[in-house]
Amino acid sequence: MRIDGMLTPTLALTLLGACGSSSSPSTASMDSGAGGAQTPPMGHMAVEAWLATGQYKAWHCEKAVHAARFPSPHGFNRICSNDLISSRATGTGSWPEGAAAVKELYASLTSTTPVGYAVYLKTAADSAAGANWYWYERVPLDSTVPHDSNGVVADGPGTTGTPLSICVACHGAVGSDMAHTPSPGGRDFVYTPVP
Ligand code: HEC
Repeated sequence: MRIDGMLTPTLALTLLGACGSSSSPSTASMDSGAGGAQTPPMGHMAVEAWLATGQYKAWHCEKAVHAARFPSPHGFNRICSNDLISSRATGTGSWPEGAAAVKELYASLTSTTPVGYAVYLKTAADSAAGANWYWYERVPLDSTVPHDSNGVVADGPGTTGTPLSICVACHGAVGSDMAHTPSPGGRDFVYTPVP
């Protein structure tokens, strides 16, 4: 697992101490290197393994694949929100630590197998201008979006690199005006909370 940069001390400690452990729901959000039922792990290999388990499909998912809602660059997609987001979808406050979403990326409206994924996880109660979110995206290798040899566009906290220059740059505008509020309840880096 990659643990780069600016993790909070608490998070870094729990990650380091976590292998193979399970614990109470309140701390489970951050303590497993493999992720959990409500929580994606961090780091390309771990995220891909976790996505393959399909646990997020038990979250609150949009019924159908749809075209991207402006200003999304994500193409055809389907969004799943975890319980922490879904249960507050119609609220107004910022999201709690552990808020997470998965976006399945599709080649077309009718395709049934995702060609890539975007994932994020809030790692502290304060968004800190995007720094306290973990950002991950993997696209097809022929995508025009900048990516590495694994198709990875972003993989890390929103403090540096593509998580900052791509993901935070746009998700930071959520709720700033009508154009950046495509879905009801969109706020604090979350464009489309699925109720
Ligand atoms: C130019 C703006 C823009 C950029 C850049 C962008 N996104 Fe998004 N993203 C959106 C919009 C708008 C939505 C909601 C789209 C919809 O409902 O169809 C969204 C949705 C998502 C979702 C589903 C949950 C939600 O908030 O709606 C995830 C997860 C996500 N993006 C992750 C990422 C990651 C990771 C990156 C960086 C690699 C990224 N996004 C870059 C605009 C952007």
